[in-house]
Amino acid sequence: MAIGERTASDRIIAERERYVARGVATTPLVVARAEGARLWDVDGREYVDFAGGLGCQNTGHGFAAAAIHEQVDRFLHQCVMVGLYEPYVDVCRLLDETWPGKTATKSLLVNSGAEAVENAVKIARVATGRSAVIAFDHAFHGRTNLTMALTAKVVPYKDGFGPLAPEVYRAALELEDVERVFKQDVNPERVACVVLEPVQGEGGFIPMAEDFPRRLKELCERHGILYVDDEVQSGVGRTGPVWAIEHYGVEPDLLVSGKSLGGGLPLAGVTGKAELVDAVPPGGLGGTFGGNPLACAAAIAVLNEVRTPEFRVRSEELGRRIRARLEALNAGEVRGLGPMLAVELSEQTPERASRVTAAARERGLVLLSCGMYGNVIRVLVPLTIDDELLERGLGLLEEALGDADAA
Ligand SMILES: Cc1ncc(COP(=O)(O)O)c(C=O)c1O
Repeated sequence: MAIGERTASDRIIAERERYVARGVATTPLVVARAEGARLWDVDGREYVDFAGGLGCQNTGHGFAAAAIHEQVDRFLHQCVMVGLYEPYVDVCRLLDETWPGKTATKSLLVNSGAEAVENAVKIARVATGRSAVIAFDHAFHGRTNLTMALTAKVVPYKDGFGPLAPEVYRAALELEDVERVFKQDVNPERVACVVLEPVQGEGGFIPMAEDFPRRLKELCERHGILYVDDEVQSGVGRTGPVWAIEHYGVEPDLLVSGKSLGGGLPLAGVTGKAELVDAVPPGGLGGTFGGNPLACAAAIAVLNEVRTPEFRVRSEELGRRIRARLEALNAGEVRGLGPMLAVELSEQTPERASRVTAAARERGLVLLSCGMYGNVIRVLVPLTIDDELLERGLGLLEEALGDADAA
């Protein structure tokens, strides 16, 4: 290409600057096509994808395409409140079959993780007759009014967007601190639910301490508080088992799913003990597009895949490989669960992590950072990746770290 000539990416980015809201953060990557754990940009460059559309491709790009194609020819939309359709019911059945416990469950399907968290809180409030909610340090639950109040990061998620939803109280990730909140901020008899990610995602890939979910659940039971397990990022096979809470042997009261559930289409769910979910009368839950038939067709294929023993075994193998390579980098603390892994760089500022993700992109690897200080490099690679491509991606990650430090 001649010097000064604009690429297709340049042209689209220039239009983006003109027409797309600044508040939607974007990167210089302009995607044309994706398959498995690979992407191609509009200028034909190939990338290894360690982001999976922000954790939405646990089964790989294109995995659910055939199931979606089949549904496309039947109908695209009904609104389940107008005409019931079997794929919606099938997803709810699969969510029941994969439920991390023994209780009979029911589910509701919505469009996004934030919407699902909101609905879980609505259900918890009606089921308990209480209003308060406890969220935790480093939490991320979304960007809607209630969920940004639950989220533990001011800039960019909350700053200037208030007034935030009331009746949200925050605790550190330890039982003693929840008890402090009960003494200091809110009577436990007024608390509807706690909301907790088993491995915090946006907050920096922080897995809960081994006994914390169990002890928290016991504390909740003592006070009649419901335990809401937010598996939007950690679920659908991301840590090995279908739900990350399975590592902890805790049966939640309500479980929130999203991201990879729809195989790339917008779908999220709230699953919970049947008598709790049914506390809300007809019409109190739902929405025009919730549980769209195409997204449900995709989710059936996805859930049937991630529940297989082979998927779990392979994910665990990937987890071991990725962890060993990340540890060998000696770049900072490596943490996570199964293949949901990240490295926290030592400095508590985002600059170096941003340099690493930019250098990775230059080299052909799509990589994301996260964390309260933006200094955590995370791996959300499709779990269908083969060994060769994984090694290539990890090699590029290592080189990107070197580039960032040389810059
Ligand atoms: C744990 C968790 N909960 C909720 C959400 C919000 O999901 P969405 O962006 O689909 O609204 C996210 C998104 O990153 C998440 O990681």
